[in-house]
Amino acid sequence: MPDAQAVATAVADLVCQAQQAALRKPLGLATGRTMEPVYAALRLQLGRLSPEKQQAIRDGWLSFNLDEYVGLAADDPRSFAAFMADQLQRPLGLRADQVRLPDGLAADPQAEAHRYATALAAAGGLGLQLLGLGGNGHVGFNEPPCGAQSPCRCLELSPATRTQNAGAFGGDAGAVPARAITLGLVEILAAERILLVVTGAAKAGILRRVLEEPPHDNLPASWLQGHPAVTVIADAAALAG
Ligand code: GLP
Repeated sequence: MPDAQAVATAVADLVCQAQQAALRKPLGLATGRTMEPVYAALRLQLGRLSPEKQQAIRDGWLSFNLDEYVGLAADDPRSFAAFMADQLQRPLGLRADQVRLPDGLAADPQAEAHRYATALAAAGGLGLQLLGLGGNGHVGFNEPPCGAQSPCRCLELSPATRTQNAGAFGGDAGAVPARAITLGLVEILAAERILLVVTGAAKAGILRRVLEEPPHDNLPASWLQGHPAVTVIADAAALAG
């Protein structure tokens, strides 16, 4: 793909198609800068469908996000819940319970991770899963080292990830929550189809490693190589590594 806009359009096309399938499992969604143009393209494409099709998609929508920071309320503008409310839930006219995320304020985050995984399993597991790529090779918040059998859990974020995500926290890595709840590779690899979305020159080095190195714990995204239906959708800058 030539650029991030082309990537966004292609990913939005696939999500749009998936959300029109009669029998479909929940959609797996990601946050992050990579997803902002994707969700903008999705809003645009869904808005071009007939009112009947839009209503059918609204009625049937159920998505599970990958992760959430521990300690942030859903209405905290820095939370992933707030990101999803801004990007998709409110613009598409969805109810809050149709766009699910782990509860960052749960008193027992480990128990919340278990509850979230149980709710996902009860809903049938994931159909189409969107993934971004962390600068250290994480997907969701599965920080290295991380095996393919890692379940949904609460974990410590690495200094690299807190630095990568400091932008939403006034540029202060120390203000980024120290822990998060994330779906594990177990739930991600059980999705029917995975789209790994990667844009920008800053991701070129890590994307090359993910594509070329044999799977190993220090590069969590490398475990995606074992999935039968994974597609990497990247722009030229990310593929130039
Ligand atoms: C974040 C999120 C991931 C996201 C990745 C890339 O920390 N937990 O789900 O895909 O890192 O983020 P970005 O798209 O902002 O580069």
